[in-house]
Amino acid sequence: MAEIAVEATQVPAKLPDVRVAVLGAGKMGSILLQAFLKENLFAAEKIRATVSHTERALALSAQWGVDVGTDNLEAASQSDLILVAVKPFQVPDLIAQIKPALTARKTIVSIAASVKTRAIEEAAGVDLGVIRAMPNTPSKLGAGAAALCRGRFVKDAQMDLAQRIFETVGRAVLVDEKHMDAVTGLSGSGPAYLYIIIEALAEAGVKVGLPRDIATQLAAQTAYGAAKMVLETGYHPALLKDEVTTPAGCTIDGILELEEGGLRVTLIKAVMRATERAKQLAAG
Ligand SMILES: NC(=O)c1ccc[n+]([C@@H]2O[C@H](COP(=O)([O-])OP(=O)(O)OC[C@H]3O[C@@H](n4cnc5c(N)ncnc54)[C@H](OP(=O)(O)O)[C@@H]3O)[C@@H](O)[C@H]2O)c1
Repeated sequence: MAEIAVEATQVPAKLPDVRVAVLGAGKMGSILLQAFLKENLFAAEKIRATVSHTERALALSAQWGVDVGTDNLEAASQSDLILVAVKPFQVPDLIAQIKPALTARKTIVSIAASVKTRAIEEAAGVDLGVIRAMPNTPSKLGAGAAALCRGRFVKDAQMDLAQRIFETVGRAVLVDEKHMDAVTGLSGSGPAYLYIIIEALAEAGVKVGLPRDIATQLAAQTAYGAAKMVLETGYHPALLKDEVTTPAGCTIDGILELEEGGLRVTLIKAVMRATERAKQLAAG
């Protein structure tokens, strides 16, 4: 199946009747859960979450006003949609814990890097829909990039629901599962690469005399603007780059330095390395 951009779905904007469990409300699980609350996607009383530490569960419960505990089986039993957000190596244990609650009517959405849908299906021991998703941290501000793929038993309605969830926190695309490690290396890890680029540009601004706060704002807004241009015009990035590059102007001198410094090759290698590592994460 070729990748396709996710279009508007038939799933309603709010999902008040769906009971959802976020198992492993750490960095990424919390970002998604808080976005669900902010967007009122699910009714707060239908959301449950788990973490491993009781004190943290109590603190999050008070902070979010949702049921946060440490009992995965109980949370999974009370839910239709189970969002698996623990570390990849913890997924087998988690699925073993919740296995008694799993039925063909439930849906699992796993955001764990590297863990294949088939591994979860087999551990579940029942033909239930397993969707794998790879979101990223800008989901916190509704600017996430997520890719989703479907396991063997996923029904269209389940896929629509998963799409709806990730569209709430940004952009969502569908890919074949064979591409999920590449997605992890590109957009899952990508915010970190771009923060470094923004930090370096801000540092450069300081080097040429700008106050640091102004340099940081200009660097970040420029990255944001360039990304928006690519997404909203649909033009190839090279064409947009040419638009900025006046013959014998200053931009071409800057580009020469970037090419000599190997920025392009370095970024390609960074994604390749992260993709290779992503393949190994399920093994711990
Ligand atoms: N961070 C990212 O940018 C990102 C992006 C895309 C996907 N992901 C995926 O998201 C998953 C989580 O990553 P993360 O960065 O959010 O890690 P994290 O902050 O360490 O979160 C893991 C959470 O799992 C909880 N946990 C551990 N064992 C548990 C158990 N047996 N039952 C219930 N909860 C348990 C931990 O509880 P305590 O808080 O009590 O320790 C913690 O809250 C990973 O599989 C990763 O591949 C992460």
